[in-house]
Amino acid sequence: MRALPHTAGLAVGGADALPAHPEAPPLQLFQEDMFEGIARLPDGSVDLIVADPPYGLGKDYGNDSDLLSGQAYLDWSERWMDAVVPKLAPKGTLYLFCTWQYSPELFVMLKRRLTMINEIIWDRRVPSMGGTTRKYSSVHDNIGFFARARDYYFDLDPVRIPYDPETKKARSRPRFEGKKWLEVGYNPKDLWSISRIHRQDPERANHPTQKPLEIVERMVLSSCPRGGLVLDPFAGSGTTAVACLRHGRRFVGYEINPEYVQVACARVSAAALAMPAIEPDATPTLAAANDDASPASRPHLIP
Ligand SMILES: C[S@@+](CC[C@H](N)C(=O)[O-])C[C@H]1O[C@@H](n2cnc3c(N)ncnc32)[C@H](O)[C@@H]1O
Repeated sequence: MRALPHTAGLAVGGADALPAHPEAPPLQLFQEDMFEGIARLPDGSVDLIVADPPYGLGKDYGNDSDLLSGQAYLDWSERWMDAVVPKLAPKGTLYLFCTWQYSPELFVMLKRRLTMINEIIWDRRVPSMGGTTRKYSSVHDNIGFFARARDYYFDLDPVRIPYDPETKKARSRPRFEGKKWLEVGYNPKDLWSISRIHRQDPERANHPTQKPLEIVERMVLSSCPRGGLVLDPFAGSGTTAVACLRHGRRFVGYEINPEYVQVACARVSAAALAMPAIEPDATPTLAAANDDASPASRPHLIP
């Protein structure tokens, strides 16, 4: 491993270790096609997969990755599922972001490989602004939640939603006193109303389909133990890496567009700086490796 430069006070660099190797950096992003990189990730090593692939709707990611449609898109989807599902640990889980156009087929494919636990509807809180008059306006994404086994890891407490003081007061009758659910908050439901990242949002990075941190943090907190490993095969602007950094989970991701890799590195650096003091030795880094290198052997430094 060579000396690493500092970006915004944070050491950013690569590792000469295999992904998820015990000596690998806690946050690793590989600038390469996930189909090529993922083979080096050991089977059964991942606690949580957050999969946000191209939706098959023709978005411009600076490459041709979202130009497939119909059966070609579904065939490609089966290929990435076959590549990532074996990486799950026995208690591991997977979230898949998609939309109604392909969710029925994608969920059936995953149900053949895993157990379906939930369909979560992400209400993007799109304002009402006219639009099509030939159908209902679509304002949600579909998120499938799948587990490898029935005894999958799931910790609800860190993602409970606190009751507002008014509701708490209304529940102040003696029969509610000391109730854990009143103190720790309620169980999130399968409808998540969280605003999409609009252009003026301070969280906004230079990526066309960046997901809100709040959503990915909920997944990471509930579905990956502290110190566990999260895999994001389609890392984009690095939302999952930031969530892992903020909550002490390890991260392995893949992204083919080098510009998004840089965006992700910058976001992780900024998030690390915004965090309360961390022990110097524990300073997390997002290590990035480029596609002309074997990430196992040739670290690549992001300027
Ligand atoms: C929907 S976006 C992910 C957005 C991400 N969740 C975020 O919050 O920024 C999908 C990403 O997958 C990347 N991608 C597409 N095909 C890929 C592949 N075979 N290997 C790695 N990355 C890929 C695209 O460049 C794009 O950035």
